[in-house]
Amino acid sequence: MAPTSASDIPSLNLLYKLKKLDVSRLGPLKGASPVHNDRIGLFRGDITTLSVDAIVNAANTSLLGGGGVDGAIHRAAGKGLLAECRTLGGCPTGSSKITNGYNLPCQKVIHTVGPVYNDSKPAESEAHLRSCYRTSLELAVQNDLKTIAFSAISTGVYGYPSLDAANVACDTVRKYMDGDDGKKLDKVIFVTFEEKDVRAYNSLLPRHFPPSIPASSDQDSITGEQAAEAEAKASQLPDVPTTDPADSEHVPKKQRQSNED
Ligand code: APR
Repeated sequence: MAPTSASDIPSLNLLYKLKKLDVSRLGPLKGASPVHNDRIGLFRGDITTLSVDAIVNAANTSLLGGGGVDGAIHRAAGKGLLAECRTLGGCPTGSSKITNGYNLPCQKVIHTVGPVYNDSKPAESEAHLRSCYRTSLELAVQNDLKTIAFSAISTGVYGYPSLDAANVACDTVRKYMDGDDGKKLDKVIFVTFEEKDVRAYNSLLPRHFPPSIPASSDQDSITGEQAAEAEAKASQLPDVPTTDPADSEHVPKKQRQSNED
C-alpha cells in the first residue's frame, strides 16, 4: 500500500464538514476548543504506512521490541531500528526516546512507554499516560518535526480502558497545542486500529475539539466544489477497516469495559 501523507489524513474540520464525525450529544468538556481542528487528524489503520515526520510507538521499558504496534513498527522498519534501540539503554514508563525510521515511510520513531493500567491506582496510570503524550510532543518539537501520529498508547496489552485513554490523550494534546510550543506543530494525528478505540476517539474528539460552528449550518460554510474536493480527498484514503485488523501478534489483555459515555 502506498504510504499516506499527513496532508492526505483528514483534519477534524474536514471530518465535521463531511459529517464523518458527529458532534457529541454530551457537549464540550472543560477547556474544549475548536481552534486546533485544522491541525488535528484522525486515521484508522496501520501506523507503519504513514509518511509523517514521526510516528509514536507503544514500546516497553527495554525498547527492544515486542508485539502489537511495537512489533509492527520493528518489522516494517527492519533491523536498523533494533540496532539503534539497543544503544538507548531502555526507557522508563511515561518517558519517550527518539530514533530514525529506517525502512518506514516516516522520518523518525518516537518510542514511548505507557503504563500497564492499574485500576487500583488510576491516577498514577493517568499521570504516566499524560507524560507519554507530553514527552512525545516535546521530542517532536525539539527535533523540528511538524507532523506526528500517535498509536493509542497502552490500550492494547497494557489494558488501559480505551475511553479513559482517549480522554487523557485528547486533553493532553489539546493543552500542549494551546501553548507556545504547540504552535510549532502542523498536524497531530490520532491513529486508531481496533473498533474499541475508533468508538472511543469518535466519542471524545468532539468533546475536546468541538466544531467551530454548529454542524447543521456548517454544510453551508463550504461551496459544492469544496465539498466535492474534500470528498475526493477522503475517497483516496485507504479503505477504513470495518473489522478489527487480524493481528496474530496482538492479543489484547481482557479489558474491563470502561463505562461508555
Ligand atoms: N498500527 C496502529 N495501531 C496499532 C497497530 C498498528 N499496526 N497494531 C496495534 N495497534 C494498536 C492497538 O490496537 C492498540 O490500540 O496500538 C495500540 C497499543 O496496543 P499495544 O501495541 O498492545 O501496546 P500497549 O497496550 O501500549 O502495550 C505495550 O505491548 O507490544 C508490546 O512491546 C510492547 O510490551 C509492550 C506492550
